[in-house]
Amino acid sequence: MLRALMGSIVLNKYGEPEVLGLRKENNIVEERKDFKGSKVLIVGGAGFVGSNLAHMIAAQEPEQLVIVDNLISSDPVNLPDHKSVKFVPGTITNERILRELPRDLDYVFHLSCYHGNQSSIEDPLMDHDNNTLTTLKLFDHLKDFKNLKKVVYAAAGCAVAEKTYGEAKATREDAPVSLYHDSPYSISKIIGEFYGNFYFRQYGLPFVKARFQNVYGPREMLGAGRWRGTVHTVWRNVTPTFIFKSIMGESLPLDNAGNSTRDFIFVEDMARGLMACALKGEVGEIYNLASGRETSIRELAELINRISGNETPVELKPARDWDTSGTRYGDPGKAAEKLDFRAEVTIEEGLEKTIAWTKENMGEIQRCMRQHVSLMPDIKKYL
Ligand SMILES: NC(=O)c1ccc[n+]([C@@H]2O[C@H](COP(=O)([O-])OP(=O)(O)OC[C@H]3O[C@@H](n4cnc5c(N)ncnc54)[C@H](O)[C@@H]3O)[C@@H](O)[C@H]2O)c1
Repeated sequence: MLRALMGSIVLNKYGEPEVLGLRKENNIVEERKDFKGSKVLIVGGAGFVGSNLAHMIAAQEPEQLVIVDNLISSDPVNLPDHKSVKFVPGTITNERILRELPRDLDYVFHLSCYHGNQSSIEDPLMDHDNNTLTTLKLFDHLKDFKNLKKVVYAAAGCAVAEKTYGEAKATREDAPVSLYHDSPYSISKIIGEFYGNFYFRQYGLPFVKARFQNVYGPREMLGAGRWRGTVHTVWRNVTPTFIFKSIMGESLPLDNAGNSTRDFIFVEDMARGLMACALKGEVGEIYNLASGRETSIRELAELINRISGNETPVELKPARDWDTSGTRYGDPGKAAEKLDFRAEVTIEEGLEKTIAWTKENMGEIQRCMRQHVSLMPDIKKYL
């Protein structure tokens, strides 16, 4: 069987054998099932990135996929409906939830956080409870799980990127860490790296860090979860906000005239990168999961308007007072060399898919937004 398939392995665009699957004679891709039979935990698995990862892993027939999530910034509609999935609603800091986790887990993905920068500025203690404390309690609990192959941590590129408005250099994994951060969120994310490094050295926790850039794609639900103190509970990130407003035919607001740049990576690439960290990452190591491409917020807005056919001009605004992040993008070289991981979806393709998903799921998105209408009466016009 394998020999028959081997004869028809295709080369990818880098001239290497197909990474994710083997291609059969009839050109149907047979996905690899690296998590088949495994026991996997995703903390924060109802969230945007976590749920995309959960759908991909569930499709590989794991023995069990446990998802722990307190739904503080997500909605259960994102959860995969699969026999292997056990959803545990609640916080990972809860002793009972920790005690009841299977002790023979193979892989853990720690993706929970208190979303996001603005919420953490508004309520640093909530950030501590749902970002720093989650990480510490989880790692402390996992430290003597004997079966664990990898614990993959969602680290944030923004916590290490150099602050500049000049020409950005690609941020490498060994970029220096400043003692001055723009938000409690950013502090919590880097503390998570410190704790993981400690538990790796002290107890041999098989810890791998995946440094995220700006992820976008389907299942990022505007307004999902509880009110977190600011309008960013609904307008949670630049890409889904622009897509929603563009579909509504509105003018897209460009903070700092849209001159900031980011490295946008499509969520399916991100999920593949996380799986590569679990399967191929070296313990104690860190990998950027990045597209390696710099896109300005203005370019992003114009692309979204073009794809969704919105002709209303963009609105130029001043910089946000907490945001000094300027221009930045991640260096994807190490992940390419060591994990054989490359982001494959172009921003045009990724935005097309995300806009199509947003249109198809408008009812669910509006349901999530509606939860906050009493605190944000100006969103009534969209509902
Ligand atoms: N999306 C990005 O662009 C980006 C960039 C950098 C880093 N990250 C990191 O990636 C991870 C996933 O981000 P996301 O964009 O999917 O955010 P998200 O808000 O959609 O997902 C986070 C999930 O964690 C859950 N959660 C929060 N507190 C919890 C707790 N105490 N116990 C259990 N679950 C809890 C939330 O309900 C949510 O489902 C986060 O750790 C985030 O810091 C994301």
